[in-house]
Amino acid sequence: MRVGGAGASLGVIQDRPMASEYILVGVAWPYANGPLHLGHIAGAYLPADIFARYHRLAGNHVLMVSGSDQHGTPITMRAEQEGVPPKVIADRYHASFVDCWQRLGVQWELFTATTTENHYKIVGDIFQRLYDRGTIYLDSMEMPFCPKDQKFLADRYVEGTCPYCGYTDARGDQCDNCGRTYNALDLKEPRCKFCHTTPEVARTEHFFCRWSEFNEPLRAWVEDKTYWRKNVFNFTRRYLEEGLKDSAITRDIEWGVPVPIPGYENKRIYVWFDAVIGYYSASHEWAQRSGDPEAWRHWWTNPEARGYYFIGKDNIPFHTLRWPAVLMGCGGLNLPYDVPANEYLNLEGLQFSKSREHAVWVPVFLDRFDPDPLRYYLSINMPDSTDADFSWKEFQRRNNDELAAAYGNLVHRMLTFIGKHYEGTVPPADHRQPEDEALLQKMRDAFPRVGGLLAACDFKDAIRDVMAVCREGNQYLDQQQPWKTIKVDRDRAGAALNTILNYINGLKVLYSPFLPNSSAKLHELLGNPYPASEERWEFRELTPGAALAQGPTPLFKKLEDDIIEEQLALLKKSD
Ligand code: MF3
Ligand code: ZN
Repeated sequence: MRVGGAGASLGVIQDRPMASEYILVGVAWPYANGPLHLGHIAGAYLPADIFARYHRLAGNHVLMVSGSDQHGTPITMRAEQEGVPPKVIADRYHASFVDCWQRLGVQWELFTATTTENHYKIVGDIFQRLYDRGTIYLDSMEMPFCPKDQKFLADRYVEGTCPYCGYTDARGDQCDNCGRTYNALDLKEPRCKFCHTTPEVARTEHFFCRWSEFNEPLRAWVEDKTYWRKNVFNFTRRYLEEGLKDSAITRDIEWGVPVPIPGYENKRIYVWFDAVIGYYSASHEWAQRSGDPEAWRHWWTNPEARGYYFIGKDNIPFHTLRWPAVLMGCGGLNLPYDVPANEYLNLEGLQFSKSREHAVWVPVFLDRFDPDPLRYYLSINMPDSTDADFSWKEFQRRNNDELAAAYGNLVHRMLTFIGKHYEGTVPPADHRQPEDEALLQKMRDAFPRVGGLLAACDFKDAIRDVMAVCREGNQYLDQQQPWKTIKVDRDRAGAALNTILNYINGLKVLYSPFLPNSSAKLHELLGNPYPASEERWEFRELTPGAALAQGPTPLFKKLEDDIIEEQLALLKKSD
């Protein structure tokens, strides 16, 4: 709460609601070369969605954007394997992503793609701007060249041993093991991805970005980012100790954003260079669609706005170093405020692996299971400071013994009981006692506390807190036992039932950033007088006498052993 304003000038100190803030939520652009797996969701999309949902409820102006990352060798390699144009692959997985967002309840202001005309234009403009000021310059360089395939081996087309950590399956542009980025020629024992021939070295012309120009400004900028997650802060500082080196930002390929400089029509911009600009170009696209083409400025040129970037840890250097450098080079645009990168999610103790098919694919998962139990599991077990694990048995246990037992049962028991004894209406509030008010006060207090955790991106702590609040409701009910008192003291029972029903109405809001689908359903069941879209991050009481929905069904299903065993068997088969 901010204190002051008009009240203060009159000598009256008042708590005033914070003015609405502008919050940009950028989320890693997924490569459109395959479906999403649970690791992607836990790594970036779920935390971003929780965060954005919270801020929208808190009355802030949220712009959450991303899109499919459709360029680069991840896409062209897949296209070559299937013998189709890259755009066919990109469109296929773009559609799959959009379907996942819809089914999972991940809500965007805009989810676009890097192949739009708008994106091409804005990337071209930024390239030109940086070229004009000398940050981008033309030079020639040596590149791995496969004598057998007769082509330059860009990025993932060459593999070898990481020059930093010795990992033997490092890709040409980044090491999966240590996260460092480097020049492909620095790879030890390089080999052509397709034919395994040792590449030769040949010279070619390219445009370079003078990253070295930004080492000092970046060091100064990072200095006060002590509120960043430790791993993000330390990784970034360590990287800056070595310093960014200039690197080529164009490639000898056909698929990508064209270079705007005449004479270089056969080259394309490097996928990472174009993709990060997507946060900015998507904001423009959103503004155009909203009918106010200048509206993007609220998030990008307003110094009060804050940009949060949700990514997996392998994306850290692109978001805490290279993207800020590009923004510094452009001038006048906001740099990231926070980059709450997550660690990895493993699967049954092993890394997710596309090639070994050790994965749980989101579309497949959603054919079989509801989204909120997954969102619950990945929230309470989020890899926010250390790697976490998805295990089917744990998923079952957390669903059955925690989500369904503590929350689902509480809701279902109360709605059914009240349906029977109060003709499906909210019981009267007039006989509430101090112990009832005390419980409701706990609910009121939970909002700023949980909100603070969410605003600080402490998602795991936030959902644990909400679970504890939920359990307090169960304890209250165990003490009050309205199913007994109703036989002897209907006023007492009614007051307790009114209290717990209101408490449930508060829980619904506290849970909604995490479990939006069940919260929306519960909102309907409770017969609230306003639509779920008008929900706010605050405790609002139900109107006594208002009608509850008839014949409520449980919010969560119990997961039986056989369905879990079936999933485990599927995984074993592919291992
Ligand atoms: N496509 C990249 C990946 O999946 C992420 C790109 S994030 C962006 O690792 F900012 F560059 F778009
Ligand atoms: Zn490495």
